[in-house]
Amino acid sequence: MAGAYLDTRLKGRDYLSISDFSGEEIRLLLDAAHDLKKELKAGIPHPVLKGKTLGMIFTKASTRTRVSFEVGMFQLGGYALFLSAQDIQLRRGETVGDTARTLERYLDGIMIRTFDQADVEDLARYGSIPVINGLTDLLHPTQALADIMTVEEHKGKLSGLKLAFIGDGNNVAHSLLQICAKVGMHMTIACPPGYEPDPEILAGARVDAAATGVKLEVVTDPFEAVAGADGLYTDVWASMGQEAERAERLKDFSRYQVNAELLGKAAPGAVVLHCLPAHRGEEITDEVLDGPQSVAFDEAENRLHAHKAIMALVM
Ligand code: CP
Ligand code: NVA
Repeated sequence: MAGAYLDTRLKGRDYLSISDFSGEEIRLLLDAAHDLKKELKAGIPHPVLKGKTLGMIFTKASTRTRVSFEVGMFQLGGYALFLSAQDIQLRRGETVGDTARTLERYLDGIMIRTFDQADVEDLARYGSIPVINGLTDLLHPTQALADIMTVEEHKGKLSGLKLAFIGDGNNVAHSLLQICAKVGMHMTIACPPGYEPDPEILAGARVDAAATGVKLEVVTDPFEAVAGADGLYTDVWASMGQEAERAERLKDFSRYQVNAELLGKAAPGAVVLHCLPAHRGEEITDEVLDGPQSVAFDEAENRLHAHKAIMALVM
């Protein structure tokens, strides 16, 4: 057992937003994720969280996040409990604060997927154990770490690369803006008017981008965004909680599909990323998602390694 995941500098920290971490800390998380992946492939056990427990609260659906955290905790020697918000007292009106003050008596960490970023922050504020944000309406920071890890694996570097995000300026786009700025990647988002990323998130990320010397841009033309891009990223047009807007969004986003024509305008050898689940035939075609440039399923796998890195370092 040897690797960056044994580092103790992040012990006790919450993982609520990429913006809470410095570029060096993101580097440490990435190194830990790469090391854990190598060890897993080599059959080297790494039970660094032996005897520890993670509670996983979900008020939204999940395939990847749930399974990768649960399996990841098992591989780290610990135990993970799935806490459906349908079944715990939070749903019946117990406050987030009382939930935090209770759960910290049993658990060593909490991962939560929910709607409001403020609930995740409250859980962290009222409890003393590390809280990991497994997606809110605003952010998806565990996803962004796995995404960047995947780009680094396929491109051999991060600094100076360009990512084009085609679609909604949503939670996934926000965390990507923040992480690209920290690791020195240019990022251009192409979205229809009215679907731009949150101006505060963009402004915050631009402070980091100025320090690393990269550009973060928002445009309306997908072809402009993909010019020279080393990575193309897309996500569903209607996120969880936006089901009622689906028909309207399908119309508004119709020009924003990642298809062979658009991919053809990116840099040669550009990789295609998607956080998944995909709505095939909407934001991305089968041809591209199943094509040779797609790394979406490596990206899904890397959620496991990235989540293990987060847990090993903060718990
Ligand atoms: N990408 C992602 O978070 O997937 P799940 O919703 O399946 O967890
Ligand atoms: N933006 C999507 C991501 C799902 C992983 C959503 O919030 O539904």
